[in-house]
Amino acid sequence: ENTLGAAAAQSGRYFGTAIASGKLGDSTYTGIASREFNMVTAENEMKIDATEPQRGQFNFSNADRVYNWAVQNGKKVRGHTLAWYSQQPGWMQSLSGSSLRQAMIDHINGVMAHYKGKIAQWDVVNEAFADGNSGGRRDSNLQRTGNDWIEVAFRTARAADSSAKLCYNDYNIENWNWAKTQGVYNMVRDFKSRGVPIDCVGFQSHFNSGSPYDSNFRTTLQNFAALGVDVAITELDIQGASASTYANVVNDCLAVSRCLGITVWGVRDSDSWRSDQSPLLFDNNGNKKSAYSSVLNALNNG
Ligand code: G3I
Repeated sequence: ENTLGAAAAQSGRYFGTAIASGKLGDSTYTGIASREFNMVTAENEMKIDATEPQRGQFNFSNADRVYNWAVQNGKKVRGHTLAWYSQQPGWMQSLSGSSLRQAMIDHINGVMAHYKGKIAQWDVVNEAFADGNSGGRRDSNLQRTGNDWIEVAFRTARAADSSAKLCYNDYNIENWNWAKTQGVYNMVRDFKSRGVPIDCVGFQSHFNSGSPYDSNFRTTLQNFAALGVDVAITELDIQGASASTYANVVNDCLAVSRCLGITVWGVRDSDSWRSDQSPLLFDNNGNKKSAYSSVLNALNNG
């Protein structure tokens, strides 16, 4: 196959990208995106500040721009994200306690109702664990509502749309030796043992010199899958875009039957949140980089 999406589909997987609504008028951007990818994540447009700018007043205009572009071009959609400490609208930042807990529940219900039956996977909770060596939860206004906020989010999400796979999504959980990885692993194991409805874990996979790729990523994916959840690589970018590292990541996913697919976090280097690191598969002019061929070959040979 000669596109990433078609190559991934040979093994029943997908290959996706983040899409920004503000770039849908750029024909170079949409040309590459429509040709190469078969899964779409809205880079910012489905986040809390975008979809509920005032409490109880939902706005899906930019989210729907991304969603409609994806569907009209034959792609599936990952929903990102419903409960997160960051990119909260001002009204939510100022809440605490039971009113914040209720606002989180209302937000999940409002967004999931709008997209009911239309989203392949939802990142229900994003980035809830702390960096560093604690292995514990990140402090946030949501965390301070009580340790059960994550399972409440998942139970709410399951009731709102039983057709979507419900994912926990985070970064720096790719290396099996990291405390954060163990913290998330223990939470998922606990959720599965108690029947909390979680279907998948998203490994963002923002690899750079501070958080480099390690070959034990495959072990991590296998160990999570063994708990009875699917796994997905949800925001992949690699500082410098080493062709061999990109191939290793693809091969790690292909080696794990429960790895659903791979999403890269942007189209061209210039579209990246860290464009100074040239971390993606297409250069600023939309030309394929060596990492692109490496990924395509890995998908075709897997
Ligand atoms: O749209 C406004 C623009 O009107 C304004 O002039 C400009 C001034 O700062 O800001 C623009 O909004 C920015 C937005 O991206 C759109 O470009 C925000 O400031 C900026 O904070 C926002 O950054 C996003 C970031 O999440 C915020 O947390 C990045 O695009 C997005 O790639 C990044 O994605 C996250 C995932 O959601 C979660 N995992 C990590 C990943 C990378 O940080």
